[in-house]
Amino acid sequence: MFAPKAGHVPAFVFSPPEFSLYWDMKEGNLTIFDLRKDFKKGSLDEKEVERNPFDQFNRWFKEAVASEIPEVNAMTLATASRSGRPSARTVLLKQYDDRGFVFFTNYGSRKAHDLAENPQAALLLFWEPLERQVRIVGRAEKVSPAESFEYFRTRPIDSQLGAWASQQSSEISARALLEKAFGEMLEKFKNGEVPLPPFWGGYRIVPDEFEFWQGRPNRLHDRIRYTGTVGGWRIARLSP
Ligand SMILES: Cc1cc2nc3c(=O)[nH]c(=O)nc-3n(C[C@H](O)[C@H](O)[C@H](O)COP(=O)(O)O)c2cc1C
Repeated sequence: MFAPKAGHVPAFVFSPPEFSLYWDMKEGNLTIFDLRKDFKKGSLDEKEVERNPFDQFNRWFKEAVASEIPEVNAMTLATASRSGRPSARTVLLKQYDDRGFVFFTNYGSRKAHDLAENPQAALLLFWEPLERQVRIVGRAEKVSPAESFEYFRTRPIDSQLGAWASQQSSEISARALLEKAFGEMLEKFKNGEVPLPPFWGGYRIVPDEFEFWQGRPNRLHDRIRYTGTVGGWRIARLSP
């Protein structure tokens, strides 16, 4: 029997697991290793992509919307604290133009604290039916209160009141307190327009880097990166 020498354990020798498996690899027909697929729906060529990444994003976003992808504007927002501790969550893309990508949130939330300490942020959109992902990196800046209000007033009244009622990311001892706060806001603003909470609004991620990823067969995916330079956008193909 093969017996590795002490201190020279080759990487392929596994020690018995000292943890519980939550997914029994042998259960049923499917093992977690079987959760794979080949990508073959499209391709991306550095000579054919738009010269401007915002135009490329616009093209892909419209195709994603036309494909009726659920939650097509949901994106992962990654932030990091001053010390570099990362944090990611889903937010909704609510506006984009050649200035950047806007989402709305609570300015007292964890993400807002991170962005106050460290404005660098990353966005990720994954459109599985098209076998595409878009990565965006840039600097976050707050949008103006006027711009935030313009969006806020289009939200359903209950969502507006919900924004007032929640101190997003803070600990709360019971759900009942949240419902109570919502009821109080309902009463407070029953006669007229709900104002913009001073602690709520948008951030715009102003990108200096984009990557468009198209799944391809045999894991030989297409990756086209745009890097912002003083002379404009530099386009490069990345190895998958
Ligand atoms: C599909 C989806 C969309 C979401 N959209 C938003 C959003 O636009 N803004 C927001 O503040 N939170 C949104 N959330 C909730 C966030 O993921 C997160 O729970 C919340 O913002 C608190 O994050 P934080 O504690 O890291 O600041 C969404 C969650 C999901 C699953």
